[in-house]
Amino acid sequence: MAKKIIITIDGWSSCGKSTLAKQLAKKLGYAYIDSGAMYRAITLFFLRNHIDWTDEKEVAEALEQIHLHFEHNEKSGQSEIFLNEENVEYVIRDLVIAEKVSDVASIAAVRAAAVAQQQKMGKKKGIVMDGRDIGTTVFPNAELKIFMTADIATRVERRFKEMFEKNPNITIEEVKDNLEMRDYIDSHREVSPLRKADDAILLNNTHISMEEQLNFALNLVKELKEKVS
Ligand code: DC
Repeated sequence: MAKKIIITIDGWSSCGKSTLAKQLAKKLGYAYIDSGAMYRAITLFFLRNHIDWTDEKEVAEALEQIHLHFEHNEKSGQSEIFLNEENVEYVIRDLVIAEKVSDVASIAAVRAAAVAQQQKMGKKKGIVMDGRDIGTTVFPNAELKIFMTADIATRVERRFKEMFEKNPNITIEEVKDNLEMRDYIDSHREVSPLRKADDAILLNNTHISMEEQLNFALNLVKELKEKVS
């Protein structure tokens, strides 16, 4: 069997990281982990339990009560996140969560807990993980790192379409404001800010199709395997 590698996909909000990561994982027979879902599930727990996340002690106690795991759903073909045994894959996509998740993801203790679990998941390799700090902090030695970007207008349009299907009351301005706010907080926080790892390959998908971007990534995997074999 070919040697398994770790593939990291980082980048700005809503530039198609999870779409590419899922497709790649499927093609390669790898596990796909959506690290953003972990920060979203933690945010859901904090909101539901009225945790004051400016209070370090409260955060530490809350983190001890949070257990996250992913399960593969045969029907949807997706890996879904569970918060303390409850499937929260769909509720965490709500705008209410999107409005707070970047603040929660800026907390050092939250990041330490999430990163430790993410690193465990990569022990056996054969994994595609997407997020903001996967190539820089979680797996700095990953064999393949991709950093994705796309024009803001394109990203807003894509996210709006996706959210509008679930919530027809949502406006394009709300989606744009949320994306810009998250990009700002994610790239300016103190701990592991969003940035391209020096050895990551840049992929701007503003003008390319999903098929083209998948082929681009598969070619990178192929080149890498030829180099090491
Ligand atoms: O990928 P996403 O939009 O579901 O991520 C939600 C938020 O979680 C994002 O705005 C920033 C944070 N995040 C992070 O800080 N680090 C990661 N590795 C993944 C997500």
